Amino acid sequence: MGITREKSHELYAATAALIPGGVSSPARSFRGVGGGAPVFITRAEGAYLWDADGNRYVDYVCGYGPVILGHGHPAVAEAVARAVRRGAVVGAPTPAETQLALAIRQAIPAMERLFFGNSGAEAVEGALKLARAATGRPGVVKFEGAYHGHSDAVLVKAGSGAATVGVTDSAGTAGAAAGAVHALPYNDLEPLRELFRQRGETIACVLVEPIAGNMGIVPPAPGFLEGVRDLARAHGALVVFDEIITGFRVAYGAAQQALGVTPDLTCLGKVIGGGLPLAAYGGRADLMALVAPEGPVFQAGTHAGNPLSVAAGLATLEVLARPGVYDVLDDRAAYLAAHLEALAREAGCPVRLNRWGSMFTLFFTDGPVTDYRTALRADREAFSRFFFALLDRGVHLAPSPFEAWFLTLAHEEEHLAASLEAAREAFRAAGHQHHDDDAPERRVRRSGAARETQAR
Ligand SMILES: Cc1ncc(COP(=O)(O)O)c(C=O)c1O
Repeated sequence: MGITREKSHELYAATAALIPGGVSSPARSFRGVGGGAPVFITRAEGAYLWDADGNRYVDYVCGYGPVILGHGHPAVAEAVARAVRRGAVVGAPTPAETQLALAIRQAIPAMERLFFGNSGAEAVEGALKLARAATGRPGVVKFEGAYHGHSDAVLVKAGSGAATVGVTDSAGTAGAAAGAVHALPYNDLEPLRELFRQRGETIACVLVEPIAGNMGIVPPAPGFLEGVRDLARAHGALVVFDEIITGFRVAYGAAQQALGVTPDLTCLGKVIGGGLPLAAYGGRADLMALVAPEGPVFQAGTHAGNPLSVAAGLATLEVLARPGVYDVLDDRAAYLAAHLEALAREAGCPVRLNRWGSMFTLFFTDGPVTDYRTALRADREAFSRFFFALLDRGVHLAPSPFEAWFLTLAHEEEHLAASLEAAREAFRAAGHQHHDDDAPERRVRRSGAARETQAR
């Protein structure tokens, strides 16, 4: 008999009475895979998570991207412990902030100056405000299925958790109602060209994830980002790269280095905080001179540039700057991806795997996935079966067909081998409809065991 997740169920019942859906961020809910109690995590170390029932999982969520060295990396843990003893928050600039800003600028030279905040949503909000102020125009172009945080302007045809729980256009926002946000298909320059032709003088900026990550991983088509940049330039609009996932994830110099296209403004988050909340936006010095207190674009935060987050970020970047780190991440992800594809073929399960470095998405579809529309063609039911089959075998994925698998330096051969063993059976499960009428929730409740169950 398998080990259950009874404690997670109890915790879910207690939490859902207090927090809508039982989760502090909708992406964590199991609604995208048919519902049920999410797994409550009590500990994370290296490539592993442990749940409230003591089940162990190989983790491919990695906090939705921030964790790149592995959970609880000693260098990060020590840096944070040292920082907390010197003051968790001081309400004044700290030398460590300067050091991190410098490290970021050295890695990403287009970020000539920058401004720290706490979350990716804040960073994007600030960058858009700056783009509007700099151009004197209201309009923002984003792409369908992209996710840029929960601020008003960008909750239009949003991907990630918003798409997963069916709220791509949030209620209660002003941005969409004002008609200032245009959501266009990713990887297609024609609609953008047409929009600029018709309304070019109203567009402040084009906001783009250079490698899309929130409709699943979707790399840019050759020439797409260059085309975005050239069209924007021709019409006096700015280009804002949302590198909140890709910054320090796909390369030390972010996607803009990997792809050779330079934006006017860049947003960072996730990895720069080393697992603690930290984000930044920055770019051309002339634009950044508009930010308060030098200029009229106001943004602020009690915890902006928080010393603990800055310490974790600096420690993380120090490890990532070592030679060969990104090759190791790439090699391991390539190995895992190739074997997953082979196992899917063996099981007769049609999949498309889109990968960039240490992040990839496995779409349950037989056609290429190049934008949000093609991502939506993937079989959600098959993904749900695959998801639960892996979960029951000790592999933790995001509960959504639109998210990525993230690897860390802590994902070593043993973790990949165990994951592939689990995937062999999970692909069989994915390929077969369940003919019983069991709700996924009940399947979780009496689920088979995670392979490793002891708490270490
Ligand atoms: C590309 C991108 N931009 C912005 C955000 C928002 O960041 P945060 O959740 O830190 O507000 C996310 C979050 O997943 C993201 O993936």
